[in-house]
Amino acid sequence: MTEKKKPIVVVTRKLPDVVETRMMELFDARLNSDDAPLTHAQLIDAAQVADVLVPTVTDRIDGDIIEKAGPQLRLIASFGTGVDHIDLKAARARGITVTNTPGVLTEDTADMTMALLLAVARRLAEGERLVRSGQWKGWGPTTMLGHRIWGKRLGILGMGRIGQALARRARAFGMSIHYHNRRRVYPDVEKELEATYWESLDQMLARMDVVSINCPHTPATYHLLSERRLKLLRPHCYIVNTSRGEVIDETALTKMLSKGEIAGAGLDVFEHEPAVNPKLLRLDNVVLLPHMGSATIEGRIDMGEKVIINIKTFVDGHAPPDRVIETLL
Ligand code: 8YV
Repeated sequence: MTEKKKPIVVVTRKLPDVVETRMMELFDARLNSDDAPLTHAQLIDAAQVADVLVPTVTDRIDGDIIEKAGPQLRLIASFGTGVDHIDLKAARARGITVTNTPGVLTEDTADMTMALLLAVARRLAEGERLVRSGQWKGWGPTTMLGHRIWGKRLGILGMGRIGQALARRARAFGMSIHYHNRRRVYPDVEKELEATYWESLDQMLARMDVVSINCPHTPATYHLLSERRLKLLRPHCYIVNTSRGEVIDETALTKMLSKGEIAGAGLDVFEHEPAVNPKLLRLDNVVLLPHMGSATIEGRIDMGEKVIINIKTFVDGHAPPDRVIETLL
């Protein structure tokens, strides 16, 4: 009996060893051991040979790449949950299936969101910088004062898996939970989280102490926190973003933070990643992280496992479990 030819799987970035080893066993895997992000031209080359392409958030799989892909490219099995880096419409037009890795990053990302929330309200990074600078003169009754988060109102924008996991954590920290979402969540979820639904995002923003962005970036959420909406926030409000930079108008946010019109921000993601607005770098009331919300070794291995399952089921002729359906985003 002739053995079935293994599919060519091009992986654009270095993945954990255990994931790459399994991929090499199952597929004709073309790996990127030095982890340098691929250029647009290299992505086109990859799409011309791959049966399956495994990109990450750092690869913009635009219409041009999809158009120039060879006819053998049938699946884009993205390593990550967000799919805003892939032109889904172009993929659909070419009959290319797209999958992602939802669910396995939920708890890690919610942990990081809570960590950022605490860090910004309690001035963690600023305090750390003070100690490291050698300028710390010792304890003082009115120095390095932050704000209590217990008893404060947290407005969650996007009550999906990560929003709900954040709500559970924030409840434990004594915060009251408010949310805005395209669809109201099930009553039992609202009850468990003691969450208040705001149909009007504007009304919610105007009443919160902390606002956390937990919705995906789609054409509908681009600059959802526009300059007009940011101006609805009260001056003592903090913003936390572990979703996508594009959901906030970063220029408007930076301007307001500089003028003290918003108390502070904890940002893990940026509008033009990895570029960060230089004015943000000079502010003390922000905590800035390099898109590490889901960066745990356990999470990365689980993501890799999901990618493998999606590829394997697809090439075996079944519907992959995490097929991205545009209308559900
Ligand atoms: C991932 C993320 O690490 O999954 C996502 O949407 O934003 C990140 O946490 C990244 O996308 C991997 O491609």
